[in-house]
Amino acid sequence: MNIIPKPVSVVRRDGEFVLSASTSIRVAPAEPEILANGQYLAEQLQQATGFALPVVAAGNAPHPGAIELTMGGDDPELGAEGYTLTVTPERVTLAAPRPAGLFHGVQTMRQLLPPAIEASTAQPGPWPIPACAIRDYPRFAWRGVMLDVARHFFGVDVIKRFIDLLAYYKLNRFHLHLTDDQGWRIEIKSWPQLTIHGGSTQVGGGPGGYYTQEDYAAIVAYAAQRYITIVPEIDMPGHTNAALASYAELSCDGRARDLYTGTEVGFSTLCAEKEITYRFVDDVVRELAALTPGEYIHLGGDEAAATSAADYQRFLAQAQAIVQQHGKRAVGWQEMGRIPLLPATVIQHWLVDPAQSEATLHAVEQGASIIMSPASKTYLDMKYDATTEWGLQWAGFVEVRDAYEWDPAAVLAGLGEEAIAGIEGALWTETITRRDAIDFMTFPRLPGLAETGWSPRAGRSWDEYRARLAQHGPRLAAFGVNYYRSPQVPWA
Ligand code: ACM
Repeated sequence: MNIIPKPVSVVRRDGEFVLSASTSIRVAPAEPEILANGQYLAEQLQQATGFALPVVAAGNAPHPGAIELTMGGDDPELGAEGYTLTVTPERVTLAAPRPAGLFHGVQTMRQLLPPAIEASTAQPGPWPIPACAIRDYPRFAWRGVMLDVARHFFGVDVIKRFIDLLAYYKLNRFHLHLTDDQGWRIEIKSWPQLTIHGGSTQVGGGPGGYYTQEDYAAIVAYAAQRYITIVPEIDMPGHTNAALASYAELSCDGRARDLYTGTEVGFSTLCAEKEITYRFVDDVVRELAALTPGEYIHLGGDEAAATSAADYQRFLAQAQAIVQQHGKRAVGWQEMGRIPLLPATVIQHWLVDPAQSEATLHAVEQGASIIMSPASKTYLDMKYDATTEWGLQWAGFVEVRDAYEWDPAAVLAGLGEEAIAGIEGALWTETITRRDAIDFMTFPRLPGLAETGWSPRAGRSWDEYRARLAQHGPRLAAFGVNYYRSPQVPWA
């Protein structure tokens, strides 16, 4: 029983259920979202087992030899994402009040099977699921990861595979850092030069790239099928050189900037004094909001060293209002906590310098909920140790233990559980040029992050966790993930 994130409660029973060529997946009631979860489960199990695993509508009578998915009830403790999973030698019963709970329960079922279940070709089996009773629901509603596709660009296939891995560990937010000094990665039809020119390069001078609106919609839909909300970020008013290179009128001096392929920060700013700046923000947010069913648009707001304090406040007051006018809630990095926030705005804590904590605490005083992304724990671009090929080290080395052994509600005095929306890891890509580097920096820190966001605080310990994580090595290998073989983990 090496489930990550660790469930709220697991009781082991005698015996096991064994998948066979006659196993069916029975869903009740036969509603589209429940059928979709049954179909998804079948797809996860078919390749390695070679079994047909037909998905059939079921009555309420239990059916021996079947995996049953049922939805209903309104158990407030299980909430929108919780589930129960009961395995006996006769049958498997997955029940949840809501579809997202079924989806998370499917991930647990996958992890109860042997690692070879994740192979993409038929394997010999057998396919036992240990008999047990699991009751499970998340600690935090926001469990996410950010990927910077601006410093280096990654195509839709890389993104979809990454989403599959997030889903496996029950994450439910995928934050795409779509714009920065080095590149603008989302097509905005009313400002086409943003991608044509601003998307044409990246750190180191490569060709860059961007998502068409159709690409982005495909990512949103793929994530939604996995109960993951896309949180798109347009970083403003700093980190905007790619936009300033594309449209001269966005700079106060009216001069177009050169494209930028280095890795400095804090040198660019939109012009807070110009009316056209707010037309730009309105157009971008309007087009992005129309493509984004999720509640959130991330406005960035970090490291705006080229923006005066007055301009920063003026700009982000208007940008928050624009997000609200388009029916969304703004998210901002920690620095934004210093200015007056709209009631719905969410703040993302990241800075390790304690002198900067007042920005987060000021947001808490204003009633904002906080996403915890302390860089020394959650930044996936920090090197594991001095030998790590990729990454940076300004927040220190972050070994697998560091990424696991912290508590979101114990980071800042004055920031308790009730103010915390959840947690998020962040993979900035100044040094990350390839998919195998994304894998290496993300795994195996991401399972620890996922557990920190999902599992109850009581009962978590590094020694117990690392033994479970060790058993995920073969699973990650079966997915083809180039994970870091940390010496802290007794790999299976
Ligand atoms: C950040 O790491 N600049 C939010």
